[in-house]
Amino acid sequence: MIELRGITKTWSDGHPALRGIDLTLGEGLFGLLGPNGAGKTTLLSILVLAVEPTSGERRYFGVDPARRGMRSAIRREIGFLPQDFHPIGVLTGFEYLIHCARMREIRLTRHELERRARMLLDAVDLQDAANRPSGSYSGGMRRRLGIAQALIHAPKLLVIDEPTAGLDPDERIRFRNLIAEAAEEVAVLLSTHICEDIETTCDRLGIVQQGKLVFDGTPSALIAEAPDEETLEGAYAAHLAQRKAAAAA
Ligand SMILES: Nc1ncnc2c1ncn2[C@@H]1O[C@H](COP(=O)(O)OP(=O)(O)OP(=O)(O)O)[C@@H](O)[C@H]1O
Ligand SMILES: [Mg+2]
Repeated sequence: MIELRGITKTWSDGHPALRGIDLTLGEGLFGLLGPNGAGKTTLLSILVLAVEPTSGERRYFGVDPARRGMRSAIRREIGFLPQDFHPIGVLTGFEYLIHCARMREIRLTRHELERRARMLLDAVDLQDAANRPSGSYSGGMRRRLGIAQALIHAPKLLVIDEPTAGLDPDERIRFRNLIAEAAEEVAVLLSTHICEDIETTCDRLGIVQQGKLVFDGTPSALIAEAPDEETLEGAYAAHLAQRKAAAAA
């Protein structure tokens, strides 16, 4: 569905944030793990066409975004919840969703659009808060509204950057369930540095470390790589430590 080949990104200060990433995305939930500063947000920003890579190629449903007039069409197929998402606080949750839909030029009648916004607010459990200014929402509610805005235009791919940071345990579980539900309908790429966020839900995971994709496979394959570890978290930590030691040698 989506293919990234040889993606590199060197920021203008000379920092090489990505150092050659190949990634193919299909259906289901793909979890992207990596420590702080590994390059996850940079990779996601390139994936959603917000940032240009220094080099490398991208293909979306067979289409090259470098082709004239193709970017808007590709963007319509992607929903994005950024790491530091903030809705427009003076708008209610409902008004904010309508605003996002208009910005993305959804071809729905007003009635259909309002119905879709209500349906998504129900799905993310914000029905009771739909008519309150989103600026009054808690961190968890804000993040759930973020999922609804990312889905309002019915994209084929949902990209979510560190959605559970700063959430309490209940809200975190709620959020995970919500993402697992979404993944039944659309492909989801979820970046996080918390194994728990993905271990029960994702079919496939990648590990980004110092700008490289150092693992791409199933959670059980990662655990199998570390015979002394029984949990995904242990296997993930062992994998990072092993790579770090190899790089230092
Ligand atoms: N706009 C920018 N200009 C310069 N350097 C940047 C920029 N954005 C990110 N970086 C650097 O690129 C590297 C990768 O950052 P990135 O935000 O992609 O990491 P991350 O894996 O998302 O980290 P975190 O888990 O903390 O969100 C970091 O060293 C960061 O400081
Ligand atoms: Mg990040």
